[in-house]
Amino acid sequence: MPTDKSGIYYRLLTINDKNDVIKSIANNFCIRDPLCKSLILSEKDRYEYATYVAMFLTDNKSLGAFDDDNDDQLCGVQINSSSYFVPDIDLEKYLLSVSQKTQNLIRFDHFLQKEMMNKFCGNNYIGGYWISVNAPYSGRGVGHQLVTRCMKWLTTNFRDFDSLVAVTTAPESKHITEKIGFKSTYEMKMSEYKDEKTGERIFANAGVPFVYLMVKLRNVTNSNL
Ligand SMILES: CC(C)(COP(=O)(O)OP(=O)(O)OC[C@H]1O[C@@H](n2cnc3c(N)ncnc32)[C@H](O)[C@@H]1OP(=O)(O)O)[C@@H](O)C(=O)NCCC(=O)NCCS
Repeated sequence: MPTDKSGIYYRLLTINDKNDVIKSIANNFCIRDPLCKSLILSEKDRYEYATYVAMFLTDNKSLGAFDDDNDDQLCGVQINSSSYFVPDIDLEKYLLSVSQKTQNLIRFDHFLQKEMMNKFCGNNYIGGYWISVNAPYSGRGVGHQLVTRCMKWLTTNFRDFDSLVAVTTAPESKHITEKIGFKSTYEMKMSEYKDEKTGERIFANAGVPFVYLMVKLRNVTNSNL
């Protein structure tokens, strides 16, 4: 498997990677992502939410970073999915089976994917919904590689979408997407977001005031790749 000079290699994730992806999301994303962090999730919340995230693997558009020098450990993920994909679950029933905080997070994702993105990005996009690099690997360019490689792979292999969309909650990921040509089309004030069911402003105290919808149009992408 070809690696870069740091011993990291990248490959598409399959459903067989599910358990490793769940661990990575639960023990990294759920702890370090600014919105998750502000909710102070329990281990149960983190694993529940990570299990939901891993359902998007079945859309077969996600990429993993692996450490060749450390037993091929999964050290970073970018979970992508098309705007048409929906996990094969009855969402309302599923929500009843998870904790309040997991429900909050899933409803927020659903709101972003099915309302905000469709409103500001059209309904024919591929979304980079979750990006996470394990803490010891952070700041070494793995996140940048994940986003760049996903863009190239998606653009080369899928012809029928208009744009690539990323939701950025962390300043690092906004920086990475801007660097490779994504533009912010909407900034969402987190203190104004209300949970659809409880009406609670769950992210009022999030460390980040805004979440950004970052878009790169496919025709622009084509000329660059
Ligand atoms: C966000 C994340 C995926 C980035 O991955 P990474 O491998 O650490 O990122 P990279 O090393 O490729 O690049 C980081 C870039 O952000 C820049 N950066 C670091 N801190 C920054 C800040 N506070 N504001 C803006 N840019 C910042 C770095 O300088 C670097 O850019 P450069 O290469 O131009 O110098 C990783 O930090 C992570 O997993 N965070 C926790 C989960 C999370 O928050 N996910 C994002 C949800 S949108």
